[in-house]
Order: sequence, then C-alpha cells, then structure tokens
Amino acid sequence: MKLQNPVSNSFPESENVANMSASSTLKAAQKAAQLREQGFKVIDLTVGEPDFPTPKFITDLAIEGLQKGLTKYTASAGMKTFQESIVEFYAAQFGAKFSTSEVAAACGGKQALFNACCTILNPGDDVLIPKPYWVTFPEIVNFCRANSVFIDTEETDFQLTAEQVRNAITDKTKLLIVNSPNNPTGRIIPADEMRKIIEVCVENNVYVLTDECYLFFAYPPSEVFTSAVLPPELRKFVCVAGSFSKTYAMTGWRIGYTIANEEWTRAMVKLQSHSATHPTSFVQYACAQALQQREKSMEAVGEMLAEYDKRRQWLIPALGEITGIRCANPEGAFYAFLDVRQLLGDKFKTSADVAEHLLNEAQVVVTDGAGFGAEGFLRFSYATSMENLQTAIEKMKSLFGSKNDGNSSAAA
Ligand SMILES: Cc1ncc(COP(=O)(O)O)c(C=O)c1O
Repeated sequence: MKLQNPVSNSFPESENVANMSASSTLKAAQKAAQLREQGFKVIDLTVGEPDFPTPKFITDLAIEGLQKGLTKYTASAGMKTFQESIVEFYAAQFGAKFSTSEVAAACGGKQALFNACCTILNPGDDVLIPKPYWVTFPEIVNFCRANSVFIDTEETDFQLTAEQVRNAITDKTKLLIVNSPNNPTGRIIPADEMRKIIEVCVENNVYVLTDECYLFFAYPPSEVFTSAVLPPELRKFVCVAGSFSKTYAMTGWRIGYTIANEEWTRAMVKLQSHSATHPTSFVQYACAQALQQREKSMEAVGEMLAEYDKRRQWLIPALGEITGIRCANPEGAFYAFLDVRQLLGDKFKTSADVAEHLLNEAQVVVTDGAGFGAEGFLRFSYATSMENLQTAIEKMKSLFGSKNDGNSSAAA
C-alpha cells in the first residue's frame, strides 16, 4: 500500500508558505527577547506598536459589549453598527461619502490587505510596490502567485510620484499598493499627488490598495489624507485598508476594515466568511461606539500624536549628530529611517552588520532596512520612552562618534 504521508523529518510545507520569508521586523524583535532572557538590559527600537495603553473609554466599551452579551457570531462583513460607524465617522471627519455596503470589518489592517489582494490578484499579475516597502506587501503578493514590481523612490527622497507610477505601468499591471504615512520611511504622499497617482492608475485600469494604517499620525504641517474622500469614479478602483491598531493603541485587539466598491467588498466578505469569519464581536462593538464618540477618540489620538512628535523633535536632530548617520525628518508614523551608508566599508559591509554591531556592543536593537528593500538603511521606532531613546543615542555616539567632536571619519 502506498503511504499517503511518508515518514520524513521535514514537514511538507505548501509551496505558497515555503515561498514566504519570515518577517524581518519580527526576527529583530525575537533577537531582543533572547538577549533580555540572557539578562541584558536591551533597548528595543524595533517595535511597530504604540507604547501607550488602549484608551480606557475603549476598554470600558469592550466590557460593556461583553456585558450586553455580544459574544456570538456577527455577519462576515461585520456588525451593521460597525459599518455605519465607519461611514459616519469618515463623513464627519473627512467629508467622505460611501455606503455601508462598501465597508467590511477585518481582523486588523493585515487581514484587510490580505483580503484585498487575494480577491483581485491572479497568478502572473504584476503588482507595483514603491520601495522601501512594508515587509508584508511582497509576501502577500507572492502568496497570490503574482509578481511584485518595485518602484525605486530614492531619487525623489522616498516620495512616490504619479510620474514614477506612470512609467512603471505595463499591460500586466493589475494593482498598486501604497502606504502613506509610510512604514518605514515616515513619508506622506501629499493629497494632490495621491490623487494624481490614482488618476494615472484609473486611466490604465490599474487598481489601488491604500494602506492607511498610520492615517492619523501626520505631524503638522503634513496633513492626514484618506483616499476614501475621492470621487466615486476614482474610488471605484481603490480599496482603503484601515486599522484600529496604531490609531487607538489596539494592536492586540485585531481589528481593521476595508472601504472598497461593492463588488470588491462582496468578494472580500466571501473570502473572509471561509477564513476568520469576522473580528471579535464585542471588539467591533467597542470600536463602533468609540467612532461615534468622535471627539473623545480624536482627543486620545491627539495626545499620542503630541507625544510622538515630542520624541521626533528630539530624536531626529540627535541622530543627525552621530558620525556617519543621516536621517530625514519623518512626516508621519513613528519611525526614523536612517541612512547609514557612510558607515559602510571594511568593518561594516552591510546595514545588517551595523545593526548587529549595535546589538552586540550597545544592546540597542533596530531593524535592518534590507527587509524593506532598502539596504544601507536602518529603521528606528520611536514608539518607546524618551529615556530609551536618550540612552540609545548616547550609546551610539560612543560607538560611532559625534559630529560635534569633530570626529567625522568614522567610515570603517
Ligand atoms: C504599514 C503597515 N500596514 C499594516 C500593518 C498591520 O497592522 P494591523 O494588522 O495590526 O492592523 C502594519 C503593522 O505594523 C504596518 O506597519
């Protein structure tokens, strides 16, 4: 008799999963955890989540949801009240007009992105992804057996332009994935350029997935922009992937949503009905109620933004004082993206070597840019205390030297 599963030391992982690489951001976080277990005091600058607690009024609302008995299945697209709250919130906050049939709840921004890609991509389709990119984008594209086509944005200081998109589109292009405010660069695509980018895509029948997970984290004078406000003829080609994770410091609650045309939404809901089904019922309730208390929600977000901004205003000039490091001011999100190419030479061949040196010599853990398609760069998260940031900078100055000491030849 033929054995169905021959005894083997290696698990017969599917090709789809075998082709995925483990998240480089998670790998760095794991390294930090290992060092901590060994008793080292580690400064972890890899974290992609707010260091604030979820606002208490939201936690209270979740408890209220539980007490109301909202512990059963909901519709796969989410509770009606959840969909309505998204519609009303976007109308009041941004002047956007769309209907509940264009909204679907998802288990975080990540699932929103997965749902969007899996329902539009076929094997062999080309997907435009501006570089540097969030690590998950090419992995989802791979999973769909589509091809990632990267658009290099370094010559425009990591700012994606409509011209770059126009030049990259071919007959095979099906989708563009944009993320603004951007992880890892902190860049924000201005509203008029975003509109032009989407116009170029629509002219060419290319769909656009906008990852708006950091939507509310824009530092003045930069402004928040959501593609949900675009007119119907443009929005028809757009799927907005939204998330509560960063906005309300709710990363563990796993809730996000999509805003897309009815057909795309129906397809995503169909897919979701066979996977996660829907995000947790009382979490949907809490989020819906929180959005209805718009002023309170925005006040909570404003407090977090002010704190990130304080850190940013201290951190970026401080980084600029370290020999061999350049860092542009992030316009949004909570990451500093460091150009360390001046440090590369005999001692450090790659930015990963610089990250490793920081880890071994200073117990400062950062994320290598190579995972974001940006070799020569490092990503620092400032979703951590000022004290941690100050210690990290002191340690880096003693490792690499300070421009103020006149030590400008640390290239090694
Ligand atoms: C750019 C970007 N998009 C989406 C997400 C997904 O977040 P979540 O699934 O928690 O909403 C993240 C999380 O780090 C992110 O950085």
